[in-house]
Amino acid sequence: MIRTFKDPEAVSRAAADLFVELAAEAVAARGRFRVALSGGRTPLRTYQLLAEPPRRERTPWPQIDVFWGDERCVPLDDDRSNAGTASRMLLTRVPVMSGSVHPMRCDADAQAGAAEYEALLRSLFETVPVFDLIFLGLGQDGHTASLFPHNPVLSETARWAAAVHVDGQSPSRVTLTPPVINAARVAAFVVIGREKAAILRSVLQGPPDPRRLPAQLIRPHGGRLIWLTDEAAAAELGKG
Ligand code: 6PG
Repeated sequence: MIRTFKDPEAVSRAAADLFVELAAEAVAARGRFRVALSGGRTPLRTYQLLAEPPRRERTPWPQIDVFWGDERCVPLDDDRSNAGTASRMLLTRVPVMSGSVHPMRCDADAQAGAAEYEALLRSLFETVPVFDLIFLGLGQDGHTASLFPHNPVLSETARWAAAVHVDGQSPSRVTLTPPVINAARVAAFVVIGREKAAILRSVLQGPPDPRRLPAQLIRPHGGRLIWLTDEAAAAELGKG
C-alpha cells in the first residue's frame, strides 16, 4: 500500500499516527507493543511529534519495547548514532521503561555487537521476532535498514542480526536481517523528498532485482507493507 501526502510534515504526522494506532492495537491484543525504529534523517520529525502532545499522551509508553532496525557502530553520543538520536529526540521525553529500550551496541566491534543483539533477541523471542511495527527508510542506492546492494547479509536466512561492512564506507553497521524484517506485522517505509523519486520508482516499479535494490527484499510474509511518501518522492511513480 502506497500512501502519498502533500509534504514532509504530513508524512511525518502520518507515520506518528501509525505508531500510535498500532501501539494501541498491539497493547489491547497482546499487552505489549514491539517496535523497531529506523535511522537516518527521515524519521526525526516523527520522533519529535511522538514526544509532543497529543500523541505523547495517547501512546501506552510503559507497554512499549523499543528496538532498532539497524545501527551505525559509533558511540551513543555520536550524532550518527540511530539509538542516540532517537533517545535524545524521543525516548528521554516519554515514559518508556528504560529496561524496554534495546539499542544495538556495536561501537567497539560490529561482529560482537551483532552477536550481542542476536543473543538479546533470542532471550526475548522464542521464535523469529515478530515486531508489531518496523519503520524503514530508503537510501538512494536502494538500501534499507543496513541491507546494502550486493552485500552478503542479503542472503542471510538463519541469523536475526548481522554485522555489515560496506567497502569505502565507515563506520561498520549492525542490521536486522531480512527474515526478521519480513516477519513483522507491519513494515512501514517512510520516504521523503525529490532526491528519492528515481530510486522509489525503481524499487516499486522497476524489474525485480533485490540484490541491486535490497528494499525489494521487504515482503512481510504474514504482515502488511506500507509506503508513506510525499508528493516529491512519488513524483516519478506511474511515469513511463
Ligand atoms: C541508517 C538507516 C538507513 C536509512 C536510509 C535513509 O542507519 O542509515 O537506517 O537505512 O533509513 O539511509 O536515510 P535518510 O532518511 O537519511 O535519507
